[in-house]
Formats: sequence, C-alpha cells, structure tokens
Amino acid sequence: MAYELLLLEISDRIATVTINRPDKLNALNDAMMRELSAMIDELTANKDVGVIVLTGAGRAFVAGADISRLAVAEQGELEKFARFGQGVFRRIELSAKPVIAAVNGFALGGGCELALACHVRIASTQAKFGLPEVKLGLIPGYGGTQRLPRLVGRGPALQLILTGDPIDGTEAARIGLANAVVEPDALPGAARAMAAAILKNAPVAIARAIEAVDVGLDATLDDGLRLEARLFGSLDETFDMREGTKAFLEKRPPAFRGA
Ligand code: COA
Repeated sequence: MAYELLLLEISDRIATVTINRPDKLNALNDAMMRELSAMIDELTANKDVGVIVLTGAGRAFVAGADISRLAVAEQGELEKFARFGQGVFRRIELSAKPVIAAVNGFALGGGCELALACHVRIASTQAKFGLPEVKLGLIPGYGGTQRLPRLVGRGPALQLILTGDPIDGTEAARIGLANAVVEPDALPGAARAMAAAILKNAPVAIARAIEAVDVGLDATLDDGLRLEARLFGSLDETFDMREGTKAFLEKRPPAFRGA
C-alpha cells in the first residue's frame, strides 16, 4: 500500500512509523486509520522488523479523532465509527511485534487511546495526555474507558475521563500511564534503546509474552495461570528456548533464530 499520511523508516530491525499530518496535529481521519491498519499488518509480516516505534510529526503525537468528521456524523453512525477505530487499535495491541509509542506532544482523545493500545509508552516532557471527549459531548470511543482504568486504576482514569483535562508527560509517568518520561531531544533515542533491549530477546517468546499478558488480563487468575502454563509449554518446541538456556550455561550471548 502507498502511504500518504504515514512515514516509515526501518533500520536495525526497528520500524519507526511517523504519523504525518502535522497541520491538523495528526488528527485521525478515516484514511489515516486505514493506513495505520495496513501498516501494522505489513510490519507484522515483515521479517526485517522486530519492534515498531510509533510517533508523531510536529507538535502532536495525535490530537484525537478528526472532530470535523465527528461533527457531520449521521444519526446511528457513531457506534460504527467507534467499532472501526477499536478494531484498528486492537490489531496494534494484538501485534506479535511490540509497539512502542514515543509520545512527542499532544496525545488527546483517540491519540491517547492509540498510545494506550501500544505495548509501551515513552513520553516527552512536552507530551500532553488527555481524554477530552466529554468536552465535546462524547465519551472516549477507541478503547479509552476500558484500557485506561486497566492501566492506571479506576480513580486516576475517571479523573482524566470526567474532567477531560490533560496531564503532562511527567504526571503521566507518575500515574503509570507512561512507562518513562524524557526530555524531548532524548525521546527518539529512548524509544530506540527500549526497542534494542527487546530485540536482544527471543522473538517467539516476546510474541507469547504479549499474548499471555493480553488474554490473561481479562481472565480469572486461574484461567490466566493455565494460559501461561500452556504458552510456556509451547516454547519447548522452539530452537530459541534450547539456544537461550544453552547460551546462558556456556556463558555466551544467544544466537536466536526467531523459531
Ligand atoms: N480534529 C480535527 N482537527 C484538529 C484536531 C482534531 N482532533 N485537533 C487539532 N486540529 C486542527 C485544528 O482545527 C487546527 O486546524 P486549522 O489550522 O485548519 O484551524 C490545527 O489542527 C491546529 O490546531 P489548533 O487548535 O489551532 O492548535 P492549538 O495549539 O491552539 O491547540 C489543541 C492545540 C490540541 C489544544 C487543540 O487543537 C485541541 O483541543 N484539539 C482537539 C483535541 C480533542 O478534543 N481531541 C479529542 C477528539 S475526540
């Protein structure tokens, strides 16, 4: 697919996807959502990519769903709108390759929800996270009411959802919404450093770990433990499990094959 709203750069097995509609603060329109969905599928299938970093061009990560589109939504259309966006973000969340959000600026509404669907969030001190939908007579519709309380707890999530007021990157890191906060200049390097740390590890194990956490979070503890044991057990078929344990005992770095 030819991408008009996303930039892609691949180096050292890290794919950096830059959302590039800066004149509208990277607001998510239908075309952008389709491109994001296709990009995730393409990168997940690309053998040269191990980790995906998602960031925004200019002042914003993403300033939300495109309000000009919402303003003309016909009656009965909003639910479809939410389901479509939720589906795209769920693909990101279920990607077998980790997706790191490098949140450079505004991450509001759908932008905050996009960051929430990523596996890890690194914020710049200039980032602004918020779910301002209630200010528009809406509620978050791309997963914010579900993922934010799961991530930071009910009280802090409801504060953000009910006031609609944003918090900065430092506060986001304090409440656990961001994994880390760094100065703006250090953001690309910090995201790449985390990607590089992940890339040292066995790819199949990384994929199974994502699955265990994602499915387990919505399961009872007993069901989650059964799932974990099953996925743990599934790794005994992999070359990498033999290689990783052998390399440790031989005091050498492992040479993983991703199989
Ligand atoms: N949808 C559509 N367009 C958006 C947008 C969105 N979510 N967010 C920003 N834009 C557009 C603005 O309309 C403006 O376009 P214009 O230059 O053609 O008028 C451009 O991006 C720049 O935004 P502007 O508001 O002028 O910048 P600012 O620095 O004054 O304010 C924000 C920045 C982020 C505080 C403000 O743009 C904002 O509140 N955006 C909406 C956030 C939101 O409610 N998101 C949830 C949507 S469900």
